[in-house]
Amino acid sequence: MSDLQAELNPAQRAEQLREQIRYHNELYHAKDAPEISDAEYDELVRELSALEEQHPDLKTPDSPTQTVGAAPSELFSPVQHLSPMMSLDNAVTEAELLAWGKRMERYIDAEVDLVCELKMDGMAVSLVYERGHLTRAATRGDGQVGEDITINVFEIRAIPRQLKLKQPPELLEVRGEIFMPVSSFRRLNERQAEAGERLFANPRNAAAGSIRQKDPSITAGRDLSFFAYQLGVVQGGPGFARHAETMAYLQQAGLPVNPTTQVLRGLDKVHALCQHWQVNRHSNDYEIDGVVIKVDDLGQRMELGFTSKAPRWAVAYKFPPEERNTLLKHIMLSIGRSGKATPFAVLEPVFVGGSTVKLATLHNQDQVGVKDVRPGDTVIVRKAGDVIPEVVGPVLSLRPEGLPAWQFPSECPECGGPLVRQEGESDTFCVNSDCPKQLEQRIFHFASRGAMDIEGLGERTVQLFMQKGILKTLADVYSIDYDKVRAIDGFGEISVTNLRKGIEGSKQRSLSHLLIGLGIRHLGTTGSRVLARATGHLDTIIAAPEETLAAIEGVGQVIAGSVRAFFDQPHNLELVERFRAAGVNFQGPQASTMPQTLAGMSVVVTGTLQTFSREGAEEAIKERGGKAPGSVSKKTTAVVLGEAPGAAKINKARELGIPVLDEAAFQTLLETGQLPGAVPHDTAETALEAD
Ligand code: IVH
Repeated sequence: MSDLQAELNPAQRAEQLREQIRYHNELYHAKDAPEISDAEYDELVRELSALEEQHPDLKTPDSPTQTVGAAPSELFSPVQHLSPMMSLDNAVTEAELLAWGKRMERYIDAEVDLVCELKMDGMAVSLVYERGHLTRAATRGDGQVGEDITINVFEIRAIPRQLKLKQPPELLEVRGEIFMPVSSFRRLNERQAEAGERLFANPRNAAAGSIRQKDPSITAGRDLSFFAYQLGVVQGGPGFARHAETMAYLQQAGLPVNPTTQVLRGLDKVHALCQHWQVNRHSNDYEIDGVVIKVDDLGQRMELGFTSKAPRWAVAYKFPPEERNTLLKHIMLSIGRSGKATPFAVLEPVFVGGSTVKLATLHNQDQVGVKDVRPGDTVIVRKAGDVIPEVVGPVLSLRPEGLPAWQFPSECPECGGPLVRQEGESDTFCVNSDCPKQLEQRIFHFASRGAMDIEGLGERTVQLFMQKGILKTLADVYSIDYDKVRAIDGFGEISVTNLRKGIEGSKQRSLSHLLIGLGIRHLGTTGSRVLARATGHLDTIIAAPEETLAAIEGVGQVIAGSVRAFFDQPHNLELVERFRAAGVNFQGPQASTMPQTLAGMSVVVTGTLQTFSREGAEEAIKERGGKAPGSVSKKTTAVVLGEAPGAAKINKARELGIPVLDEAAFQTLLETGQLPGAVPHDTAETALEAD
């Protein structure tokens, strides 16, 4: 809270909040151009609700806590809803979920069956069918009056124009969510980028933007889908006792209904399911922002009734936000070991998706252009689960007037050398081979865990050693003057001993690690392993013509060309000689004598195993001729399940019907190449729920 807010009395603050909420309602509902994220909006509403709770005299009938949405815009003709389209109360913690349950108990004291549906993050719509024909589709609007979007909804294939019922009711109203599948959203944004058009911030905005079009042919060109979640008014049709029955009926009528819905008893189970979906929220091809929990028994619903804004018989359990707005302070360049200059965003720190985000990559010059983000913009930052944080785009309505576009610098910020972007390439490079940043990054990469694994030679230490003249080239790693190190503040005898141990120990690293450490373009972990195993010695690689290298299975022309070019450079051969003189291991593994039991198979390991480290298990698979990729696909032979496995891998395995093995079965597979008694998928699921 700012000092200004702290000085306001409750009545003034309530009025200020109301004004802000109305303003954001208008932007969101009528203009499809929100300035703040849903989470920030919810926080305003929550603060106002709390104030009104504490000071009931401050509650006004027109307060946004008592009403829904915003008045419809003038683009579409207004339609009066048959019954109000209400919103839902929210819960964001287990305590709030339980409080909702407690409130319910005041009205009914019987056991309650609870329907748990995914909360689709799309656009609410009301569909009216008269004698089975779709006659009207409307947005929610302010809950009383929505906008007529019928002609656009006609273009959505998932929504039938005619119901598949022998005896359709006189009138039937269905409510549900129009959404854009995530994959379609990505494709749409790719198309927009190619056409130089503005990108949509997220699938929901894309769905809303595609529906609220004056020209229905634009809607027709967009892949939109729909799930029904509520039966509205029915005249001259069957009666129902339960929500689940209404959904079954709608499904029969040809309307899509979400298949993940479950009916549970007890809020502990409901909460566990909410947590399950929170973890797995990206496992479907559509975005969800929570779980909606509804009383199944329609009689009980009648007893519970409504508050002025929402039904008492339902609550939305909302997940923590994955998008937030923040200030883009600067765009800077980072210089990699190859000289690649990558622009990145320096942000006002923002807590989103479970961590504080301060920096985010902007990838390359074109990405900055397509997103049109400028220093000084308010930007949307997204961090979904384990995914790297991303700047989605600017909030244009908040852009200060005259804010200049960002220009890609022409000089390297580290060495002042020229930055060059080759025709047809998307990346820009610092082409100064003496650029100290590139050297620092090369040394840091050489010492990193995936390469020579030299503990004590992290990024900071490399920087420091370069400043002090202890490291001038990569080869200097093996001729460090330890007296000079001792003279540096903060380097005691113990750190010097440890560093020395780390450096000496690295001389025994395998040939493939050495190859990785050299940082040869296009030669990654897999390529290095293949090359080391196939040739058996660094000298063999250095002496091999390009065609010989390219003929090795798993190497190919690009890697072969790059390796050849690397060892054709005299300064790289000099480097090799200095490593040789220092006693660095050049010898590769002996040709495998293991029986090739897993030849042609692909085995994915997830979770922690008892008798293998992760690397060890993957090594065991590869030694026997198998592949050990990091993700499950159609080509996967089996998935090995350890403690605390990854949900995405198990779900994918289940989806594709791929066998799941425990550790004992994995041992048998290694020895015999046979798939012994795979774990049934529901056991895998239990293992998943247990952690
Ligand atoms: S039920 C009176 N069920 O969430 C009950 N709503 O504030 C009306 N939503 O914008 C809503 N998925 O469009 C319901 N399975 C679901 C839902 C759902 C998404 C949206 C709805 C509205 C908001 C509720």
